[in-house]
Amino acid sequence: MCGIVGYTGNRPALPFLLNGLRTLEYRGYDSAGVELEDASGELLEVKCRGRVAALAGLCEGLDAHQTIGIAHTRWATHGEPSDANAHPHRDCSGRVAVVHNGIIENYQELAAELAERGHSFKSETDTEVIAHLVEEELAGAAEGDLALALSLAASRLTGSWAIACVSADAPGEILCARKGSPLVLASTADGAYAASDVTALAHVTSHVINLDEGGIARLLPSGEIRVFESDLTPVAEPGTFDIDWNASAATLGGYPDFMAKEIAEQPEAIERLLEGRLGDSGIVLDELSLTPEEIAAIDRIYIVACGTSWHVGLIARAYFERWAGVPTTVECASEFNYEEVLTTDHTLCVIITQSGETADTLASARKMRAVGAKVIAITNVLGSTAARESDGVIYVQAGPEIAVASTKAYTAQLVASALLALFLARANDSISLKEVRARYREMLRVPELIRIVLSRAWQDEVAARAFVDAGSSLFLGRGLSSTTAREGALKLKEISYLHAEAYPAGEMKHGPIALVEQGYPVVVVVPESPVRDKTISNLQEVNARGACVIALATNGDVRVAQLADYLLLVPPAPEWLSPVVDVVHLQLLARYVALARGCDVDKPRNLAKSVTVE
Ligand code: M6R
Repeated sequence: MCGIVGYTGNRPALPFLLNGLRTLEYRGYDSAGVELEDASGELLEVKCRGRVAALAGLCEGLDAHQTIGIAHTRWATHGEPSDANAHPHRDCSGRVAVVHNGIIENYQELAAELAERGHSFKSETDTEVIAHLVEEELAGAAEGDLALALSLAASRLTGSWAIACVSADAPGEILCARKGSPLVLASTADGAYAASDVTALAHVTSHVINLDEGGIARLLPSGEIRVFESDLTPVAEPGTFDIDWNASAATLGGYPDFMAKEIAEQPEAIERLLEGRLGDSGIVLDELSLTPEEIAAIDRIYIVACGTSWHVGLIARAYFERWAGVPTTVECASEFNYEEVLTTDHTLCVIITQSGETADTLASARKMRAVGAKVIAITNVLGSTAARESDGVIYVQAGPEIAVASTKAYTAQLVASALLALFLARANDSISLKEVRARYREMLRVPELIRIVLSRAWQDEVAARAFVDAGSSLFLGRGLSSTTAREGALKLKEISYLHAEAYPAGEMKHGPIALVEQGYPVVVVVPESPVRDKTISNLQEVNARGACVIALATNGDVRVAQLADYLLLVPPAPEWLSPVVDVVHLQLLARYVALARGCDVDKPRNLAKSVTVE
């Protein structure tokens, strides 16, 4: 949801800023812009509607000697994608420029107030009020002190923000502020850097400063970074963390797109996650800071997440209930935040979030902590807000996920949920050590099972033909496979723009079957499981109505093979692990359909990787 970068130092700023925007482009890509400042404070702005490549084109041939700058790639919230609404935004004098990620909820009243005092606005964005507020403070109480001006301006805002600001009145300095939206900083011999996330900084440092909630930071050309609380009280020791992957992990490395790369990386990601997780007394999850007594006492679980991570939760519920015997509720964070919760004295909230920055999910975690629940985060991003604000965190260690469509994080989160469920089950004595070992051994086989599916990508490429000219499609499954069907449909929708309806296979005859006509594509997820026969009956029902059936089935399932137009075969897997293996076919299928329909699989329209606004 918008990416911001900033640099002040001894090198030309533009190359880092454009590169940084390219790596952050997955956060939003409807417009982009850059503000450069020279040593005397003179500002130079370039911005446009469109992707970072369009901005880079406009910057070609520019005399870009400036060593200070801020930049932005946008996912529109207020105001259509246009040149005027692209960031940076300036004040009336043109001496202050800001970039912003988040939403200023009270911008209308602030804009009205500022307009009354003579400010004129050039955009329809919520962000522009920040520039005008800073302008007023610089001329008033702050008397030219940019840090004080930004702190006073921020105190007028409600909503969420990560802001980077430069001013001709404070040459060389970049001021940053953060509340509710992520921002990381780096201090190096070449200068000081700011970015929405570590992917933009991984090639300049492995050591990163986390700007805390409400914090203000002052970046100086020497590389020095001074961190303050919102009232400018200095923070002596700001939180830091080390990036544990190499910058090359965020590059294509020979793959045609990030989605292809991330699908292929799933076996290694799961191997990494499982390594060393079985100890003498069960699953090892040292990173949870809850006491054994607290874990054993858990008598109710809320899993809260969004999108693909919510699908992980739907499967994880089965793990928690089957093994640990703890009643578990799964909620979409955006709905959960406005509902009553029924907690006990020993309620656990598990938030699942790849980015660790999804605003709705973070709000749910805060809500649950406020009522006394313990919160455990399952996340992929080190040092993310979810990790920092939780009582315990399981990092899924999938490596940077750049494609907007989540793939490797999904399967790694499923495995992490299984580890957590086995851990709880052992702690509350619902499961024997022998069974934990057996389940762990089954998990160790998953990377190999996924490799087999990957080697059958040709089946998905062939099956993609059934969707190329379709106007809609249906995904069916029963039991755990009904969630695999949901995830497959979501993948298809988000990257190929083809409508895909997911439904529990048995429910289909209560409505969606009316969609089925000759040639209508229906994906039926029917691996070996206790509900296989029932699912085959549903497959026959759509078959009888002329559907083009794409069946995901276990090797050697002749009965399904006879009924299907296209087959996606999976190796035999334990029922509880089939969601981790089967979904890989549906990821591949979605990608092939999207490519056949000429879509950009990594940057689908209207979407952003990290949804940092509610
Ligand atoms: O970072 P999170 O896991 O919290 O993100 C949640 C959703 O926004 C995300 O899973 C989204 O649905 C993906 N684009 C799905 O591929």
